[in-house]
Amino acid sequence: MPKILVIDDDSSSCETLDLYLTEEGYDVSTALTGTDGLNKFVKFEPDVVILDIRLPDINGFTILEDLLEEKENVKVIMITAFHDMETTIRAMKEGAFDYIHKPINVDELEVAIKKALKTSEMEMKIDGLLMEPQRQFKVGDIIGSGTVMREIFKTIGVVSQSKTTVLIGGESGTGKELIAKVIHHNTSPNEPYIAVNCSAIVETLLESELFGHEKGSFTGAIGRKLGKFELAHYGTVFLDEISEMSLNLQVKLLRVLQEMEIVRVGGKDTVKVNARIIAATNKDLMTLVKEGKFRDDLYYRLNIVSIIIPPLRERREDIGPLVDYLLTKINLDLHKRIIGVSDEMMDIFMKYQWPGNIRELENLLVRAAVVAKSQILGRSDFPELLETTDGRAGASGKGLDSIFNPESGKLLTLDEVEELYIRKIIRETNKNKGETCDILGISRPTFERKLEKYGIVFERE
Ligand SMILES: Nc1ncnc2c1ncn2[C@@H]1O[C@H](COP(=O)(O)OP(=O)(O)OP(=O)(O)O)[C@@H](O)[C@H]1O
Ligand SMILES: [Mg+2]
Repeated sequence: MPKILVIDDDSSSCETLDLYLTEEGYDVSTALTGTDGLNKFVKFEPDVVILDIRLPDINGFTILEDLLEEKENVKVIMITAFHDMETTIRAMKEGAFDYIHKPINVDELEVAIKKALKTSEMEMKIDGLLMEPQRQFKVGDIIGSGTVMREIFKTIGVVSQSKTTVLIGGESGTGKELIAKVIHHNTSPNEPYIAVNCSAIVETLLESELFGHEKGSFTGAIGRKLGKFELAHYGTVFLDEISEMSLNLQVKLLRVLQEMEIVRVGGKDTVKVNARIIAATNKDLMTLVKEGKFRDDLYYRLNIVSIIIPPLRERREDIGPLVDYLLTKINLDLHKRIIGVSDEMMDIFMKYQWPGNIRELENLLVRAAVVAKSQILGRSDFPELLETTDGRAGASGKGLDSIFNPESGKLLTLDEVEELYIRKIIRETNKNKGETCDILGISRPTFERKLEKYGIVFERE
């Protein structure tokens, strides 16, 4: 059961959170002062800390610093006041994982906690400390019905019989990692699956991450460290964004693939590698080879079997089934009961270009599910999407509805539209100035001028 520590001097807020989070299945501890919070942190060892910035005895930032010193990767969710954007930014800079504005919206909090727990889990997984949870990654988890997808399923079946290297290509969010996991689970389900993002870390670090290092091989190498190829044993090493690997490391990786052995950084002995390697890229490696940015010999070694996943806009037949599948998952994760999307929304989905592919669809559905008031997700639940689709359609003169002023019977002027929109956002943010300015994308002085211009009275109750 994940453990959560709430540090907040408002006792009623502490109690409410305690009740709510306990109900949601967390093990909760609360503290009303900073000192008590720090003590409880050491004893209780929470996975997530919810920390109010304003406390009577110690400043929230000092506590944040102390918590991070105690445990480098602790996930702290700060509670900040809405009007205080600067504090919020500072909190994030100083290492808070996320922030929630007061008054706390429990749905928002729940999403932040889930995200924090998931990140911790991922970090442990990346460090090779945690095997994939017992979740099964079956071919059935990949939605796809067209000819191309059916071919991909066949290939997955074939490569799961052996430990051949596989190269997976496709735009971002098309499901490259999902396919890598399914291959892994079909080949060696009880062995580790270790993902390494080749673009996320600097070259020297990536080298020691992959190959490990001996004690004292460079400043900071305080002990021997095993690399991912060793940690993966008979499992899988997933090399994400392989195109970002430096030419220097590419040579070393080629050697691993040829010899199936490695030498740790600063070491002499060779160590046998038994793991299967799956690489992924969202760039066209052949083009990079031609430009001299990717070694051709490595390309051919990796490309023994390749799976190229088509972008979502080229397999629109999967959009409906994907929406159903993702909503089922989201309902389970967020304890929601969303039935589906409206017909109108589905039409928009079918026409949209989906630059971020399935990840984009999933993110949109999650956000919509969190805010939705009804069980069918409609137009108003997807504000981001409508902006882009309407924006595009608007450029060609279609898509954006014209609005009549009922009093004058004429179409609205630009000023009238602006006034209406400002009033609408003020209402929707519950008269929250900071949030209103954020949404409208204007500074406070500009906002004040507009209020004056349109004679809008803005007073927070
Ligand atoms: N065919 C599919 N069926 C069901 N879910 C999918 C499918 N493809 C992708 N997903 C889901 O979409 C999300 C994005 O997929 P994934 O992380 O595998 O993409 P990716 O290609 O690795 O993206 P990136 O290039 O951005 O890293 C994941 O949550 C994944 O489970
Ligand atoms: Mg990925």
